[in-house]
Amino acid sequence: MASLAFYLSAAVLFSEDKDYQSLDTAPNSTFDDSFFGQDTLRLYTHYFETDGAWQTLIDNFTVEVVEEGSTVPGVVGMGSSSTVLDNLAASNQICGKMYSLYIGQGFDRAGGKVNGSNVFGGYDAGRFVDPVHKYAMSAAGTNQLSVRVKDIIVSETNNANSNVSLFDTVAFPSMSSRPDAFDAEITTDQYPLSLPYEITQNFISHLDAEEDNTWGDNSLKVKNVFNGSLTIVLEDGFQVTIPPEVLVNASNITPIQSRAKDSKEPFYLSTTFLTQVYLMADFEKQSFFLATAVQKNNMVMPTPFCPGSTPTAYQRPNQGAFVKQGLIGAIVGGILGGIGIGICVYCFVASCRRRVAERRIEKRAEEGRKAAKMAQFEVEEVMEFDPPPKSATPFFWKKR
Ligand SMILES: *[C@@H]1O[C@H](CO)[C@@H](O)[C@H](O)[C@H]1NC(C)=O
Ligand SMILES: *[C@@H]1O[C@H](CO)[C@@H](O)[C@H](O)[C@H]1NC(C)=O
Ligand SMILES: *[C@@H]1O[C@H](CO)[C@@H](O)[C@H](O)[C@H]1NC(C)=O
Ligand SMILES: *[C@@H]1O[C@H](CO)[C@@H](O)[C@H](O)[C@H]1NC(C)=O
Ligand SMILES: *[C@@H]1O[C@H](CO)[C@@H](O)[C@H](O)[C@H]1NC(C)=O
Ligand SMILES: *[C@@H]1O[C@H](CO)[C@@H](O)[C@H](O)[C@H]1NC(C)=O
Repeated sequence: MASLAFYLSAAVLFSEDKDYQSLDTAPNSTFDDSFFGQDTLRLYTHYFETDGAWQTLIDNFTVEVVEEGSTVPGVVGMGSSSTVLDNLAASNQICGKMYSLYIGQGFDRAGGKVNGSNVFGGYDAGRFVDPVHKYAMSAAGTNQLSVRVKDIIVSETNNANSNVSLFDTVAFPSMSSRPDAFDAEITTDQYPLSLPYEITQNFISHLDAEEDNTWGDNSLKVKNVFNGSLTIVLEDGFQVTIPPEVLVNASNITPIQSRAKDSKEPFYLSTTFLTQVYLMADFEKQSFFLATAVQKNNMVMPTPFCPGSTPTAYQRPNQGAFVKQGLIGAIVGGILGGIGIGICVYCFVASCRRRVAERRIEKRAEEGRKAAKMAQFEVEEVMEFDPPPKSATPFFWKKR
């Protein structure tokens, strides 16, 4: 699907804008020499590795041209004030400020191989399974993507009766009463989860973990191998399980951060959580959806997603031929923010016309076409464009 290598076109159309003020107040950047201006932004969408790319243009897009400086682009994703979403919606290329993300695990800290996908105006229907869970966005000015966690359960892989709730006062008598459910912010700012102090202490005692900051993010380390998973239960019952290889990696590092007793920092369901979850945001109706992610899917199924609608996952055939035989061709990913955590994401701009009738017809045609493709391994003809040059400077993601 769309690998979206965001990169900038040649500067022939560029015109400087001396009065422009960025919305990003204090980015982690020191740009000694930069200026703003307008240029054409090209979004490239790859469906299959060997195919050419679809191109989506955003004219008169404001860019910051940096001649000297440094930055730590550790954030992935689009917020409600994203100028890319604004521009795509304003030019009717998507039907509203809708954005979906699977962050994947194809970056150093996660140590995995699977790349994520990034969809504007839609979602990747093959990247999650039903049911989807709906949440209201929090007020502007805070992290809009917050959920309430009511339980966290640790299970050992080879012992069915080993489930222990980190909220349980019987298992952890140091707690005088069961901790309250807590609000946690979904973020891509950091990899490890940040949980309340008591819960973190219970995790440390149950897994025999210790503080360790070898990797600079205060992730805890276990002293002995622990083969088990951790299940986060949200208030509405949605359960997200961090699998054994993520809970304790081969160097015994966990994705749980240590926490000071008096820390007032927010609790975070961070990138670790998003490696297991597909996120779909409807910034128009101020709601978002979470569903269990399908980690590896060679097939990309961009589906338009319009304000107020509820995403539904692609229904897999029970024994589709393609499951048995595997798919020919992999998906190409563009590397975004490669200097920082090096997350590779695929992006897709799902086009969605304003008129409902048109949309329905289109959607049916789209579904039919996808089904045929699934069944027959047909790769559709696409217009050929030159792929983005390998040396192209990646366009850094903006926090909002
Ligand atoms: C800059 O990075 C530091 C360390 O990663 C982080 O604590 C801080 O919040 C970041 N500042 C902004 C504005 O993103
Ligand atoms: C391009 O965008 C700038 C800043 O948003 C605006 O001032 C200008 O009028 C736009 N030009 C065109 C041709 O739309
Ligand atoms: C475990 O995670 C740490 C922190 O990201 C990483 O540096 C280390 O290489 C990982 N170990 C393995 C064996 O993947
Ligand atoms: C243990 O927890 C896991 C994850 O929540 C669950 O799938 C499993 O059924 C539980 N086992 C028992 C015996 O309760
Ligand atoms: C954990 O247990 C499972 C099931 O026995 C096994 O397949 C897996 O290799 C184990 N993982 C580790 C890290 O020992
Ligand atoms: C992930 O993306 C990178 C960069 O495009 C690519 O080299 C790599 O093969 C991809 N990995 C998978 C498993 O598709």
